[in-house]
Amino acid sequence: MEDGAEAALKGGDKLETRKRIGVLTGGGDCPGLNAAIRAVTKYSIQLGYEVIGFLDGLTGLMEGRYRHLDYVMTSGIIDKGGTILGTSGVAPQQVEARSTDVFRNVEMLGLQAVVIIGGNTTLSIASRLSGMGLPVVGIPKTIDNDVKETDYTIGFQTAVQIATDALDRLRSTAESHNRVMILEVMGRDTGWIATCAGMANGADAILIPEVPVDIQELCKMLRGRYESGKRFSIVVVAEGTGLPVETTGGCGRPEAVSKTLERIIQERTGLESRTTLLGHVQRGGTPVAYDRSLATSLGVKAVRLVEEGKQGHMAALKGNQIVSVPLERLAEGIKTVDLGLYHNAEIFFG
Ligand code: F6P
Repeated sequence: MEDGAEAALKGGDKLETRKRIGVLTGGGDCPGLNAAIRAVTKYSIQLGYEVIGFLDGLTGLMEGRYRHLDYVMTSGIIDKGGTILGTSGVAPQQVEARSTDVFRNVEMLGLQAVVIIGGNTTLSIASRLSGMGLPVVGIPKTIDNDVKETDYTIGFQTAVQIATDALDRLRSTAESHNRVMILEVMGRDTGWIATCAGMANGADAILIPEVPVDIQELCKMLRGRYESGKRFSIVVVAEGTGLPVETTGGCGRPEAVSKTLERIIQERTGLESRTTLLGHVQRGGTPVAYDRSLATSLGVKAVRLVEEGKQGHMAALKGNQIVSVPLERLAEGIKTVDLGLYHNAEIFFG
């Protein structure tokens, strides 16, 4: 088969035995995935491996859909958003139900290991597969930065920069119209993006799932700012933030949290408010320099882990060291926001 062309395994197929490594990107995309694929591919080739990229994440691994990756295909992609391999969200039960196919495909391709680049769900599946005996190595990525055992995940710093740029732009229009501008950012069940972007922008309030929201205090602060002559405010809210029951009518989150906030702030303060939902803009486009180098270092480490026979481990960042941690440690839940960091941002609220 030509390098770069797509392929699909059929029963009975077996690629001739050579030193071979697989790589895939699973779950939501984020900036920096291509930089990681490039690092894994080029370094593996330098060490004498042939590289197989599974298409569309774990789906490709289950279905035996892949393409050979080479130096040419992975050149000039370090600055490209998205993933050249495609990705998909797959539930752990789906992979478990097809684990026989997964093992067969890895065996037929003669893979020494599969490098799985993913967030919490994908890495927890990687951990389960590893427990069943599949040789896997993990690389943490997600704009949410909620993966335990690593200080940062690939994509997070880019998302923070995009959110900060948005907040800076909202500030000038807030000021012109004397409005309260609310920016809703992603982050799933954590407020990492909200905290770091809000801190960088000097936001007047940052609402995150980790800290209970006091609506009365918030409205008092916004009104107080207005009366003291600061006639605009910037509020950043993480998508997973829960609001007190009386504000949502007790029916969970029927609308985006920022929309509820906008309504409540207008009703209770009389201040004109507007909402911006940043959405998937946070996940698209060029990765910032930090994410490119983090992805490169984690990619190199992942290949080294394969070489060292440390399957079942994840490449991770601790302080300024790239280290390895057992994937099974991720079972202990998600990484929530460092409250010390949040309280430093809080000093400048209002
Ligand atoms: O995990 C990354 C993330 O972007 C979250 O911040 C967000 O809640 C979710 O994925 C959105 O998922 P989807 O792209 O499936 O809408």
